[in-house]
Amino acid sequence: MPKEYGTVISTLEGPSTRRFSFVINRDATVRRGQFVQLETEDGKLIGRVADILKTNRYFMRPESVKEYEASGKRMDEIFPVNDWEYLVADASALGVFGGNGFVDSSFPPSPGTKVAEPETDIITRFFGLDDSGLHIGKLSHHDISARLNMTRLLQKHLAILAISGAGKSFLTSVIIEELLSREPGEGIAVIVVDTHGEYTSFAEDGKFSARARVFPSREVQIGLPNISSYAIAEFSPDISAAQRRELAKVMSGLKRKNKHYGMAELIDAIDESDDIKAATKDVLVSTLEELRMTGLFGASDYPALDELARQGMLSVIDVSDIIDIKAKQMIVGYLARKLFNARKNGVIPPFVLVVEEAHQFVPEQARKEIALSRGIITTIAREGRKFNASLCLISQRPIQLSTTALSQCNTHIILRITNPYDLKHIGESSEGLTRDVLRQISSLPVGTGIIVGEAVNHPLLVRIRKRNSKASQKGISMEQAAREFHERVSQKSKDAKSFM
Ligand SMILES: Nc1ncnc2c1ncn2[C@@H]1O[C@H](COP(=O)(O)OP(=O)(O)OP(=O)(O)O)[C@@H](O)[C@H]1O
Ligand SMILES: [Mg+2]
Repeated sequence: MPKEYGTVISTLEGPSTRRFSFVINRDATVRRGQFVQLETEDGKLIGRVADILKTNRYFMRPESVKEYEASGKRMDEIFPVNDWEYLVADASALGVFGGNGFVDSSFPPSPGTKVAEPETDIITRFFGLDDSGLHIGKLSHHDISARLNMTRLLQKHLAILAISGAGKSFLTSVIIEELLSREPGEGIAVIVVDTHGEYTSFAEDGKFSARARVFPSREVQIGLPNISSYAIAEFSPDISAAQRRELAKVMSGLKRKNKHYGMAELIDAIDESDDIKAATKDVLVSTLEELRMTGLFGASDYPALDELARQGMLSVIDVSDIIDIKAKQMIVGYLARKLFNARKNGVIPPFVLVVEEAHQFVPEQARKEIALSRGIITTIAREGRKFNASLCLISQRPIQLSTTALSQCNTHIILRITNPYDLKHIGESSEGLTRDVLRQISSLPVGTGIIVGEAVNHPLLVRIRKRNSKASQKGISMEQAAREFHERVSQKSKDAKSFM
């Protein structure tokens, strides 16, 4: 039996088709933001509690309160005031469930109607949740699972936005757990660009290790014979079209002769060429030398495509030990392009590419020379949906994230955000974010998020569930790091003493 919360009352403004008030039963607990359900002539009406007021008729007239208390006694010593305190909830009508789904409320509920806890099934349908979807938590204030349909969540890309420490990586880990737990044959490939080494723990966790693999950045290799001169030009935007054409000639010459050439061989071939002008040679050699310094270029690719994108499996590209932003962007740009092309040809399963610190890889304002992965990620944002090549962009600086990429993310999960500029930016780029919802975002507690966009029919507040996977040691708090350091040092000195 659903719990009964109270009874619709008649007020000056309502009940109307949009708003109604109800007096809350003494034994019921009702909180702002909670959903309620009531019967109307058109069907089951779903409402959300917008505010709660307390009233007490003994305290309505200031002059009486003042006069009575002037006698030296408090009101509650003179009258049974506690018996006359009422809680009244103001609720907004969200929609009415008739026989054929939900419609806008077009007729007010009657005063006297009983207001009750909403049925799980009705709420599930109202928000467009999916019983076999990804379980990311529970609806705030309710014991109802938030299971999001995988296609609706990912196909048109996902953005996870919040200030630092609000729980973005935690939520991402929860989503990855869900993706790795799909039935065999129903999973997608998950590839994570791990900027802080936070996801490597999946490979150390018994529950997930068989389905997770880590590729440290120092092992990543871009196979020169497998890329075009255009890809090199993308990594070195300073070279001109004419210089790139010369490079292309040398590369195809090398390819004809010897399939496995690395950067040293390419540089030598340019140096030794008789057809290239000296000035062009200088530019090309110095450009390629710069690329060689990154240590990223070799004669073959690593990881190979079939290691990188495996159905139902996770690949973590750990770039946490790279400081050079351009080198990081080259890895991400290269892998993103490789994944996207392979997906277009249908040789790898549908995938989601998770990009932490997305503003570093798809920046809004940065010059071309320091935005080496922006082009391809924007392309995937624009065209990926047709090929089930999805992005999950994570950022604590949404204002620095490319607006083109962000606006192509059709679902946003927003955790706490306090910066007014970021809030404004998100308000402009997320459809369906009302002013009411925007106001809530700055006061969200850690672990609670608002989902808006494609994945849900209406903005939805969710308490993110606990993760089942082991957390990485890299994200621990300062307090905990200090305690661990202290324990280690005192253990060492104990060991030293017992040795002496
Ligand atoms: N749903 C949750 N339940 C319990 N604890 C959580 C939850 N979400 C986050 N936390 C805790 O909050 C802390 C910060 O979370 P997390 O590292 O995910 O933040 P973040 O948004 O990724 O931060 P940053 O921008 O610095 O990467 C972590 O210690 C994590 O354990
Ligand atoms: Mg994080």
